[in-house]
Amino acid sequence: MDTDGYPPGPAVPHTASGRDWVEAEGIRIPRFTGEFWTSRQRKASPIHEISYRACFKPQLPRFFICRMTGEGDRVYDPFTGRGTTVLEAGLLGRGVIANDTNPLSRILTRPRFFLPDDAEVRERLAAIPMVSGARATIDLSMFYHRDTEAEIVSLRTYLLDRQESGEEDNLDAWIRMVATNRLTGHSSGFFSVYTLPPNQAVSPERQERINRRRNQVPQYRDIRELILKKTRSLVKRTGPHARSLLNTAGDEGLFLTGDSRNTTAIPGESVQLTVTSPPFLDTVHLLGNGAGSWPGLSGSFTGLLPREDMLLLRSGKSGKAG
Ligand SMILES: C[S@@+](CC[C@H](N)C(=O)[O-])C[C@H]1O[C@@H](n2cnc3c(N)ncnc32)[C@H](O)[C@@H]1O
Repeated sequence: MDTDGYPPGPAVPHTASGRDWVEAEGIRIPRFTGEFWTSRQRKASPIHEISYRACFKPQLPRFFICRMTGEGDRVYDPFTGRGTTVLEAGLLGRGVIANDTNPLSRILTRPRFFLPDDAEVRERLAAIPMVSGARATIDLSMFYHRDTEAEIVSLRTYLLDRQESGEEDNLDAWIRMVATNRLTGHSSGFFSVYTLPPNQAVSPERQERINRRRNQVPQYRDIRELILKKTRSLVKRTGPHARSLLNTAGDEGLFLTGDSRNTTAIPGESVQLTVTSPPFLDTVHLLGNGAGSWPGLSGSFTGLLPREDMLLLRSGKSGKAG
């Protein structure tokens, strides 16, 4: 049944064709072979569509989750990244455990288990005080129009205040997730002027060179409109049934931030399937890199960087901007 416009998982019994065995040290290990790239299978839930490096196609975890688990089983990803495996598991009615050493992973993953209505996002955004003239502590004028920068700084201040006061709710977390992904990018759907993709560190000097070469200056971007627009595109096609499955998985799930070699918070025998794509590099620079780089900006925006390293501080005079 496809009640939410999202292709259902194939009801494949464990004896399905495409399954065979390999032997390793005398143990028979089942092997599943499948084809993912037909036009129908390429369709995945739009809830996956956020920019992040090294993600894999949702069809991959889906293939194994459908074949190797049943409803209510728990699926684990020790290297969660933007959450492809656990979101797919949640959409299929499985329980989830997510872990990643990078705290951004939780910020980008957990909110997508609690999809908001765009009306409530609009209302919340309208209530956020925008401080005209608010500035970052370093020059970001090569990335942002000054009014856009004021809105970003104001939004960041609001979100950190809500976090610190314990008032933060799922709607705030959703807005943070969407905004973090809109900070820099190629198109007018992002807050910044055209810049390199998020996984490539761009220093302010390099961005100035890009601006000269492309003969561009940052235009004003209404961040509330862009957050709303992205919200609509993320939640479309996810109907009430899938939302409720996601909510249950999110409420009952574990979202851990730590080294996958030491996950004592996960109870023994509580995981039926692990689907993951491990890191490519031994060392991962989580939030550092150039001041104007995506990792630096997102670390600062989300409050993950230490206070003294924060680029976006509250400043300017009170009032409504934009
Ligand atoms: C290839 S990415 C995973 C991408 C993910 N499948 C997705 O769709 O977004 C690998 C992830 O492993 C994380 N990582 C690296 N070393 C780790 C460790 N020791 N423990 C936990 N996570 C780690 C990285 O932060 C990164 O998010």
